[in-house]
Amino acid sequence: MKTSTEIRNQFLDFFKSKDHKIVSSAPVMNHGDPTLLFCNAGMNQFKDIFLGTRQTNENRVADTQKCLRVSGKHNDLDVVGRDSYHHTFFEMLGNWSFGDYFKKEAISWAWEFLTKVLEIPEERLWVSVFGGDEKDNVPADEEASKIWLEAGVSKERILSFDKSDNFWEMGKSGPCGPCSEIHIDRGETVGDLALATDPVLGVNGENDRFIEIWNLVFIEYNRNEEGQLESLPAKHVDTGMGFERLVAYLQNKKSNYDTDLFAPIIKETETLCNFKYSGQETLISDIAFRVIADHIRALTIAFSDGGLPSNKGGGSVLRRILRRASLFAKEYLNIEEPFLYKLVPCVGKIYEDIFPEILQQQDHISLVIKSEEPSFAKVLENGVTLFNELLEETKSKNAKEISGEKAYSLYETHGFPVDLIELMAEQNSVKINDDEWQKAEQKHRELSRGKAFNYSFSMTEIEGLPATKFNGYGKLSGQAKLLKLIGTDKIVLDRTTFYAESGGQVSDTGMITGKSFAFQVDDTQKHGEIYVHYGQLVEGDLSQLPRWVSTHVDKQRRRNIMANHTATHLLHSALHQVLGEHAVQRGSEVSPQRLRFDVSHPQKITKEQIVTIERIVNSAIAQNTRVSRRVCSLEEAKSKGAMALFGEKYGDKVRVVSISNYSMELCGGTHVHYTGNIGCFRITSEGAVQAGVRRIEAVTRSAAIENIQEVDSLVDSVQTQLKVSGPQLLEKIIQMQDEIKSLRKAQKQLEQQQVKAQRDVILQNARQINDVKAIFTTLDQAKVENLREMADLMRKSSSPCVGVISCEKNGKLPLVVFLSDHLSEHPKLHAGELLKQICGLLGGGGNSKRKDFAQGQAIKLDLLEEAQDLVMNYITTATQV
Ligand code: ALA
Repeated sequence: MKTSTEIRNQFLDFFKSKDHKIVSSAPVMNHGDPTLLFCNAGMNQFKDIFLGTRQTNENRVADTQKCLRVSGKHNDLDVVGRDSYHHTFFEMLGNWSFGDYFKKEAISWAWEFLTKVLEIPEERLWVSVFGGDEKDNVPADEEASKIWLEAGVSKERILSFDKSDNFWEMGKSGPCGPCSEIHIDRGETVGDLALATDPVLGVNGENDRFIEIWNLVFIEYNRNEEGQLESLPAKHVDTGMGFERLVAYLQNKKSNYDTDLFAPIIKETETLCNFKYSGQETLISDIAFRVIADHIRALTIAFSDGGLPSNKGGGSVLRRILRRASLFAKEYLNIEEPFLYKLVPCVGKIYEDIFPEILQQQDHISLVIKSEEPSFAKVLENGVTLFNELLEETKSKNAKEISGEKAYSLYETHGFPVDLIELMAEQNSVKINDDEWQKAEQKHRELSRGKAFNYSFSMTEIEGLPATKFNGYGKLSGQAKLLKLIGTDKIVLDRTTFYAESGGQVSDTGMITGKSFAFQVDDTQKHGEIYVHYGQLVEGDLSQLPRWVSTHVDKQRRRNIMANHTATHLLHSALHQVLGEHAVQRGSEVSPQRLRFDVSHPQKITKEQIVTIERIVNSAIAQNTRVSRRVCSLEEAKSKGAMALFGEKYGDKVRVVSISNYSMELCGGTHVHYTGNIGCFRITSEGAVQAGVRRIEAVTRSAAIENIQEVDSLVDSVQTQLKVSGPQLLEKIIQMQDEIKSLRKAQKQLEQQQVKAQRDVILQNARQINDVKAIFTTLDQAKVENLREMADLMRKSSSPCVGVISCEKNGKLPLVVFLSDHLSEHPKLHAGELLKQICGLLGGGGNSKRKDFAQGQAIKLDLLEEAQDLVMNYITTATQV
């Protein structure tokens, strides 16, 4: 039996032999594309090439891509675990043509690979083609049918489907086109649905027998923001094969979970609980095993690609996946302790050859997962209580449906998984009102959308424009040809000195001036390889556009950005040196005011470490080393040891920024030419972003000097105030702290003595009623806490007593009522009851449950005498024999 690694290699080797360049998977965390949270298809990293806004030297590539389908258009989360072939994370094998070969080669190579290389019998395969769509005005794909026939597929095995099955789209908008799918017939023994007996119904039907394994998409269109199809400048091929499904078939397994991609994880989970996996479809413990195996793969991969659990965006989806796994473990495998993190090494081992980054970061990944697990136990407990309240409310109204709005809030506000809400409803024979749920969800979406991303405009506006040349590395002003004005607030040039926001560095601002106008640039964004300058006209008019314009980047601002960016690289390398190899970048933001850097590290960075880091960075600055940049291939850069971060897309050439032997990183950002330009570096804060990740903020240049001066002037004021300077300052402060401490102690003793003396006086003046001393007194100038102290003292006094002690505070009367220890078993005396009676007369209230002590506050101070009588009468009655 072939291993999954062998099968993957067969695919890559096959396309290599067809002149494809084999490239790396893009990270699964989507860095940089606002329309997607995660990479959900192999083509994501090539989107700009399809749109024509990025050029490439290669026109045939192939890879295996890490994909997550857990949000947006392609979302399988809720069905995962319930069948044998849907997953959150999966690998997609793909081959691409960028304006090169089209349907003929794509179809015949796919057929050749499956039937000749993998030797899958032809009678096991079915194919589908696009049947056309009137609304979109796209005809049926007869060309594809013809090619399938020519490839040797018999006519009855070529089935035609409509847009919902055979027109592939990346998301709401983006490149798309008709597709042809290949389905595999896994044999009648698999699945028991009626659909599975008839291939014509079974293909694209919901069953376990006919399974889609490969999708060949013929990309010809872009769906724009308005939902219309626009033809693309060139035709492309985008294919995607479900790797896990293919492996299951070739390893002769009924379920993906029985392959070598999942089985080791399930085995490991078995050792952590008292259940065994038996592979049954509906047995809840088996579902739990599958959910855990699936989800831990997704989490491990996402965290190794720079993802982190959080409350928003992709992070919140990851948190949800983690919770779903934890939940199934706790509810159905009785695993109470955090355990998911223990599975990380097992996942790392499975992907050792193809995604070595997992094993390299396994400590970090485990820590992130481990620290999330316990917090969920609380969510779960809370959620169950809230759900039960909802259930009771529903049942008390004799309703059969739980309020959808409230159930949604359980999910959205309290983080309770959808699955569990449904499952618990089912178990209690109630339903959730779906309409109300949908409405609540819609409302939430609208609210959280907030400020819309207002950079969207139709891609046709920039289609066909050449890639913008960025010439702002070496200079801040330049000449450029004006290519297009979009509306009145967007300008496209053929080249620009304005840096477009990317890699954590903010965009440049400044001016674009022409003969008849001045345009203020507030932001610069990249769309593929085209830079769009956003801003407004501040002088002249745009009616007569000149051919040539000048670009002027705001110099001071940019110089600060460059200093902060180079300092970020020095910081990264210093962190590596001081904290260790594991300390790698998890996020960064470079602005003119400061730099922010998130780094993986399990504990607080100590003050001493901060000092050392600052010293290392400042010494590199003092050396005034040249910062060099070089463009080379990604492979070469990596082999030289350049720190590759997350987010590099496939591309032939990368830019390497080196600072002597301090640092070498792949980076497209702008940097100072010599480290001396950074001037000075100072860390202003260090703290936790979440478990396993620390955030450092720092400043450079004049901001660093200002920071030092601020601290200096603070020290100065303290020195003046305390009338000491230099090293004596600290001594003085310590001495003052000691003095304060001993003064406080002395004061406390004095107060206690006073309280004791007061107690004696009170006891002497107490009225004797039967065998009990009755006290009713108001203390002058006492604090509320003194009342309690006094009561405690009295309760231990030698003779039995009942007391009410109060003090006046802001027109109110805080008071305590107590029985001395001798009376704690007295059948009739009850402090709480007495307090209640006093408050009945004087207004206010308090805690009246306890027999021996009660505390509260009264509000009518003019009835104090009556209150005293009440207390005396109460004691007299209660102690009568
Ligand atoms: N992009 C195509 C898919 O994801 C191949 O199915």
